[in-house]
Amino acid sequence: MTDERDERIVSTDRLDVMEDREDANLRPRRISEYIGQKNVTDNLQVYIEAASLRGDALDHVLFYGPPGLGKTTLAGIIAAELGVDLRITSGPAIERAGDLAAILTNLNEKDVLFIDEIHRLNRSAEEILYSAMEDYEIDMVIGKGPSAKSYRIDLAKFTLIGATTRAGSLSAPLRDRFGIISKFEMYTPGELAEIIRRSARLLNIAIDAESLTELARRSRGTPRVANRLLKRVRDFAQVKGTGVIDREITDETLRSLGIDEMGLEGLDRDILRLIIDKFSGGPVGIDTIAAAIGEERVTIEDVYEPYLMQAGFLHRTKQGRIASRDAWLHLGLTPPETDAQLSFAYDEAE
Ligand code: ADE
Repeated sequence: MTDERDERIVSTDRLDVMEDREDANLRPRRISEYIGQKNVTDNLQVYIEAASLRGDALDHVLFYGPPGLGKTTLAGIIAAELGVDLRITSGPAIERAGDLAAILTNLNEKDVLFIDEIHRLNRSAEEILYSAMEDYEIDMVIGKGPSAKSYRIDLAKFTLIGATTRAGSLSAPLRDRFGIISKFEMYTPGELAEIIRRSARLLNIAIDAESLTELARRSRGTPRVANRLLKRVRDFAQVKGTGVIDREITDETLRSLGIDEMGLEGLDRDILRLIIDKFSGGPVGIDTIAAAIGEERVTIEDVYEPYLMQAGFLHRTKQGRIASRDAWLHLGLTPPETDAQLSFAYDEAE
């Protein structure tokens, strides 16, 4: 494994509290400040206005797409635009059905409940959600055996916003209860440049146009990555430079973080190199890759692969993962001349 892995910019650590706090300050609070995801926000603006005009709660919303694209941010904005309170939790944080019942019974009329990683809710909690979402009531069983009693509890008419990196992992009954389902796409370099410009202004850092373009290009389509890179470049500019972010400091920072020309970091390259060196370019199964790299399968699938695919370096097929011709070239290797692997004799996986 390369040393670069110790300083991943694609953090999967959900307990990164300080960083999250700083990120929170960079988050847009109104829809007019939110950059990109126009397909999502244009429609939502209509639904928010319609619900407000009717004096009704917004229908339940499901956001899906890779991590770091602003799903939580947009949930916060929706609550602000509706003028209601926001309660945030996550699938893994809800251990028992009672935990969820406690949250639901404390919501007020039209409030927004945001459940991140909703695909990781356990079965009993998920079942409580069905009647909560549909009928705004829950049935709680108190006690055990013959003396057990079922109580019906009425809830306020609330809005659930669920977020998931994998819409396919959601059970059909849960998915069907969302009236609005929106897919988040990776951001264009232009949108990322706008986000970085805004963040630099909020953090009070001077950055030149060339650095802005370069950071945007190497942020793997992800605002969370863009904002992290900006903060690291700021550190380098303060310590080693003039305090202004210029091209030289930007390049030095990215080099020291192991981020290459295409925005790939150490682990991205480890994955591609493994497929190419050990499996002649693939196809190779995801579990084999996960074991060899020493990373959880879901992390590779949800965090690393989306960008590798978007950048055209990796193909997911039913037979396994394949490194593209561009992946070979990017790593400075010569791709096989005529190779079934590179000619797409494989079916794309769903
Ligand atoms: N910060 C993170 N995501 C953002 C977005 N979509 N627009 C503006 N700032 C952001």
